[in-house]
Amino acid sequence: MNDQEKVKIFDTTLRDGEQSPGASMNLKEKVEIARQLDLLGVDIIEAGFPAASPGDFESVSMIAKETENATICGLARCLDNDIQKVAESTAAALNKRIHVFLATSNIHRKFKFNKPKEEIIKLAIRGVEKAKSFVDDVEFSPEDATRTELSFLAEIVEAVIKAGATTVNIPDTVGYTTPSEMTGIIQYLKKNVSCIDQAIISVHCHDDLGMSVANSLAAVDAGARQIECTINGIGERAGNCSLEEVVMALKTRQDLFNFQTNIMTKEICKTSRMVSHITGITVPSNKAIVGANAFAHESGVHQDGVLKNRETYEIMDPQDVGWGESELVLGKHSGRHAFEKRLISLGYELEKDVFEEAFHSFKVLSDKKKTIYNQDLVSIVENFALQSAENFSLVSVEMNYLREKSTSEPSLKAKVTIKDLRSGELLLGESSGEGPVEAIFEAINRALKVSVKVFSYSIKSVTEGQDAMGEVAVKLTYNDSSPKMGRAASVDVLEASAQAFLYALNLLDL
Ligand code: KIV
Ligand code: ZN
Repeated sequence: MNDQEKVKIFDTTLRDGEQSPGASMNLKEKVEIARQLDLLGVDIIEAGFPAASPGDFESVSMIAKETENATICGLARCLDNDIQKVAESTAAALNKRIHVFLATSNIHRKFKFNKPKEEIIKLAIRGVEKAKSFVDDVEFSPEDATRTELSFLAEIVEAVIKAGATTVNIPDTVGYTTPSEMTGIIQYLKKNVSCIDQAIISVHCHDDLGMSVANSLAAVDAGARQIECTINGIGERAGNCSLEEVVMALKTRQDLFNFQTNIMTKEICKTSRMVSHITGITVPSNKAIVGANAFAHESGVHQDGVLKNRETYEIMDPQDVGWGESELVLGKHSGRHAFEKRLISLGYELEKDVFEEAFHSFKVLSDKKKTIYNQDLVSIVENFALQSAENFSLVSVEMNYLREKSTSEPSLKAKVTIKDLRSGELLLGESSGEGPVEAIFEAINRALKVSVKVFSYSIKSVTEGQDAMGEVAVKLTYNDSSPKMGRAASVDVLEASAQAFLYALNLLDL
């Protein structure tokens, strides 16, 4: 075990992951994820692109203060201002890295920059030298490396290492390469870059052709010692190499890959659920490692085999990646102790007051729902964990739905009562609407005397069955505010809709 070489895990959920359509996260949510990534044991957290917006700068700065173990990294173009912003925002971190990038492929050189190769090399060297004036740990990425002429790729890699880059990353920016081609690229660099041993080779693979994990593993096999990846594989377009898949492939196939990572695999499921909950990007049930069916056995033959010997159909132990002990869990007679034990097995240790609130919600839920699954518990806990200080809380929602036989016109009215927690005042709102959700949102708007429009609304079932909880995600913007996301879960999906809308409104300065 000890003679195994380390592969560093560079997590870019908060940077490339945030580039997934619709995945923007607020400051509190990013810090929450960064803390969990730190617990998970990732070596490097790419916390953002500080020059992209003041919000990104603030979140990288906060993450640099709030994390304890991982190196905190920020992304920069080869521009002085970008690099300066990474240096400033990561200053408080114990270990910090500046990641500079510049596109190198012919198509990018021609259409993005209209600059010759010599100019690109000069800019790359300047960028690395500038970054080096702030920190020792500098990573350089030749963007679109896998579509760059090999000889030019080797030339620029040689130049940036000589300028001080300590990691050279080979991005498959458009998810174009294949495992054997990736092997060839890394082997070529090892052979043709004279100073290659002075830097760590990294890979950053996108999943456009579904090969990001395979390409990353091929790179490691050929000599890369850092993998860039995201939780649940989220990221630009089809996403990035999935952290949980690549880490578990390395761990499960040690007969092929004699490497170790620092990942605490038991934290994987919790991290995956947190990222899915915060971004609103659902994990497909058949997704490897973290999908709801990843360890479910449907066919009788398989079930029989697993009961006789788990390894007949399971190549990993579900508990190694943080799945709870059993799927069928608690019911209305379960007490605090059983509830707490189950939460701990799912990776949650709650502060006393949050625990009490979560336990109360569990009891309310167990009156409405016969069987409570792990996913239900996770949904309850995640809702509490992310709840910010509230100004408004929902007291009641009433729906009146009547369709007269004589007319096709429905009479649909929503009535809400909301408590303003600052003044103690009860605010009432009523509205009709084309559908019940629209009527509820408008009634809430009227109660608060605002006019906030929702631009995305989604609902999904937390588990199966007709008594399943519905988890609602609502996204809105108001005046010039950044998008605000609200989520809530309940067996009453209209109540969950009202709660989610109100949660997002609580994030606005009303
Ligand atoms: O995909 C890409 O090329 C990137 C770089 C900035 C590393 O995300
Ligand atoms: Zn990328």
